[in-house]
Amino acid sequence: MQVAPEIPSKPVQDILASTSEDVPDIFTRDAGKLSLAADSTTLPWMDCPIIDFSLLSSPDAVEAKEELTKLSYALVSWGSFQVMNHGITDSLMDGVREVSKEFFILPAEERKKYLRAANDPEGYGNDTVMSQNVPHNWNDRLYLNVFPEDQRKLGFWPQIPSNFRGTLHEFTMKVKQVNETLVQAMARCLGLEDNSFLEEYGDSVRVTARINFYPKCPFPELVHASRTHSDASAITILLQDKQVEGLQVLKDDNWFKVPIIPSALFVNVGDQMEIMSNGIFKSAVHRVVANSERERLSLAMFCSPDHEKEIGPLNKLVNENQPRLYKTIKTYGEIFFRYHPKGERPITAMRI
Ligand code: OGA
Ligand code: NI
Repeated sequence: MQVAPEIPSKPVQDILASTSEDVPDIFTRDAGKLSLAADSTTLPWMDCPIIDFSLLSSPDAVEAKEELTKLSYALVSWGSFQVMNHGITDSLMDGVREVSKEFFILPAEERKKYLRAANDPEGYGNDTVMSQNVPHNWNDRLYLNVFPEDQRKLGFWPQIPSNFRGTLHEFTMKVKQVNETLVQAMARCLGLEDNSFLEEYGDSVRVTARINFYPKCPFPELVHASRTHSDASAITILLQDKQVEGLQVLKDDNWFKVPIIPSALFVNVGDQMEIMSNGIFKSAVHRVVANSERERLSLAMFCSPDHEKEIGPLNKLVNENQPRLYKTIKTYGEIFFRYHPKGERPITAMRI
């Protein structure tokens, strides 16, 4: 498919530094249709049980079974959950937040070295928008392929702070383990062999990091910090800001605020897991609202099948009662970037 030429816009921070407008109209062009942050403060909290990761592989069978039942409920009802005792230390989580923050507060001249190119998501800047009707997110992000290591484009990996690369590498390796254990448990939830989903991943899991920086916004109700979307991943493992809320999830057509739980990670099902599970696990629809008082930082780690691996609903999940709901597809990441910039959801096009 022909890709329309794109002129990436400046990072939000730099647009704001160069204008006297409070909220430039590229951020508000669907404001008439928004029912966003105005009601955010009154929304209920997400009240899904927290999953204790360490119990999922407990030698005590009863304990492990109980935790798996909680996980099944979380997956089927919410498509997302928080997980604790995941094996990533507070100091590593703080460390990766710290180096990320240090990058985003560097002078514009330094940050500029990592700006992404047109029509390529990798690098620093904001997301591609390919429709006059789609507003830009109030969000600057650094988007990096972090695993397999030979997929890294180090030119986009900040050299300042000097411990950025090492810290992100260390965090990636831990996230990779969390992904494996969770995806195995998710297979068990469906009565499948532990490795059923991991085998679909192909030769190697692919991990992409998206470090999000959301500047303060004087009129949060007019903008999207992140527009309503679901992720292209199989699962996403998200490190939230330690102090500033903003993430919301949709359940049965109602929005819920995701609370900050110190030491926990937020996990959500992405489109590729919805496809592999033949729709039993639904990818979580979510959004982020802006904040007038504080900037917010988060780090989403998208864990996906190998790029070249064809995926589709697992054979064991297709039968007379559960017909195949999705096509067999490849390079879903690229498909995602054809739809999302136009404000569309790619998963709908994957249905049979
Ligand atoms: C994302 C995302 C949520 C957040 O990066 O895809 O949904 O809390 N982030 O920043
Ligand atoms: Ni997301």
